[in-house]
Amino acid sequence: MHKLDLLNTGRGKLALVTGAAGFIGSNLVDALLASGWRVTGIDRRSPETDPVAAANLQQALTTPGFTFEQADVTDTRARELRKADIVFHLAAATGVRPSWGVNFADYMRDNLTATHHLVQECERADVRRLVLASSSSVYGTAPQPSAEDGPLLPISPYGVSKLAAEQLALAYAARSASVTSTVALRFFTVYGPRQRPDMAISRMLYAVRTGVPMNLYGDGHQRRNFTFVTDAVRALLLAASTGTTGRAVNIAGPASVTVQMVLDTVEEVTGQPVPVVHTASRSGDPASTAADTRRATAGLGYRPAVSLPEGITRQWQWMRAAQSAPLIGGPA
Ligand code: UGA
Repeated sequence: MHKLDLLNTGRGKLALVTGAAGFIGSNLVDALLASGWRVTGIDRRSPETDPVAAANLQQALTTPGFTFEQADVTDTRARELRKADIVFHLAAATGVRPSWGVNFADYMRDNLTATHHLVQECERADVRRLVLASSSSVYGTAPQPSAEDGPLLPISPYGVSKLAAEQLALAYAARSASVTSTVALRFFTVYGPRQRPDMAISRMLYAVRTGVPMNLYGDGHQRRNFTFVTDAVRALLLAASTGTTGRAVNIAGPASVTVQMVLDTVEEVTGQPVPVVHTASRSGDPASTAADTRRATAGLGYRPAVSLPEGITRQWQWMRAAQSAPLIGGPA
């Protein structure tokens, strides 16, 4: 069967998604439901009390086959996982720059301890497939384009926590008694509809929409291998249905570009200048990310499909159509 045909093999099967109310999680939930999966979404933010969760899950909550459970990952028990054909683990403490200092306790708990708990419960529940979200932040100052079996030199507490989490899950999966086949997808700066409001492209579009300037950290020459969210979601679906196991896989967009190039693209797409305030570069932000995606192509059949101008156009359309979601919180 061609790999893309596998996207429709969800019919009747049950997927459990942690972080279901979040940016990538909610986009994944919608795609799974559209592919015929039944989905249990877990998140500690409830759509009943959290407006962002409500906006992100609006479509899912009216789709048959979706069940939402408000819970922390560390409260998930094997008996709830037992019926799941697959677990997608997307819940995490996110964001590179706030991970220093006292906040690291949250990153340890939400990224490392929670993953440890979930991996053990998956084993107990006989879950056959676990796909977890890792991050380009595991590479830090590693040579580029960064390959999965090359150096891992994270430079932020966030990157350290994501590296520890993925390696822990892969260590469990490597045990001879393991029943859960596990793959960790290292996502490179995902953007698109429902992107978190603290992230660069959200900030740029918010600045255009409101006139409130965004803080540009550093000189704008830092590079990111920006990945559109539908490409990230397709990689998750491919990882669900292919045999790649026991390893990390880079998932990235078509090119590594500077933040200044993104600003220029936002101006072209919106037809308006992005008001910017120049501020110092932030500790933990790598100067550049660039992915070697040969493993994703060979193992998953993954290739990015969405260019930066197209992706920014779609995020801008979404932001203009959304009532409130991207504006909640606004720039910090
Ligand atoms: C993003 C996510 O926030 C992480 O959760 C994720 O793990 C990571 O991608 C990843 O690749 O794995 P980041 O690359 O910092 O982290 O993404 P953005 O927040 O979109 O920042 C991109 C660039 O824009 C950075 O160089 C940042 O310094 C800059 N930026 C961001 C600004 O100049 N101003 C802002 O207000 C926000």
